Amino acid sequence: MAVLEVIKMGHPSLRKQSQAVGDELLSFEFQTFIDDLIHTMRHQNGAGIAAPQVNVLKRVFTMEMKNNPRYPDRNTFPLYTIINPEIEYIDDQLTDSWEGCLSIPNIRGKLQRYKNIVLRGIDREGSPIEEQLDGFAAIVAQHELDHLNGILLIDRMKSMETLTFQEEYEKYWI
Ligand code: NI
Repeated sequence: MAVLEVIKMGHPSLRKQSQAVGDELLSFEFQTFIDDLIHTMRHQNGAGIAAPQVNVLKRVFTMEMKNNPRYPDRNTFPLYTIINPEIEYIDDQLTDSWEGCLSIPNIRGKLQRYKNIVLRGIDREGSPIEEQLDGFAAIVAQHELDHLNGILLIDRMKSMETLTFQEEYEKYWI
């Protein structure tokens, strides 16, 4: 498996709409790409990664949380790989969310996300999946879906006062 290059904020691909995945899903090339995407996420200690972050403008993301040194205080969740994802908000409840992004290294910012969601899409074998998520898993799913629409976490921040380097986050905000 390969570690793919993660592109950084300023790269135009991070601001583009990604395209739906079609019949290519089951191809050897696309399945290898999914393996590489998962491998890259784990290698970078990401809680999730979306295809545009490795400059592939396709609607797929993957997320996983276990023993992650970048997020030592967060709840764990299993590996999800979601193709052509959609999110439904179950209610109006919002939650504060301190987020980072592999495409905006060493930066954190506080924003708000929906607390309870249903994540729908298809899995890597092409079967429909539907997961009710809350807490950090719901936050990560919303963050990754944003990447497929060219949206970055800074776009969701109401105030830039919490735009923070990692070191200062750990010093002043935890
Ligand atoms: Ni991100």
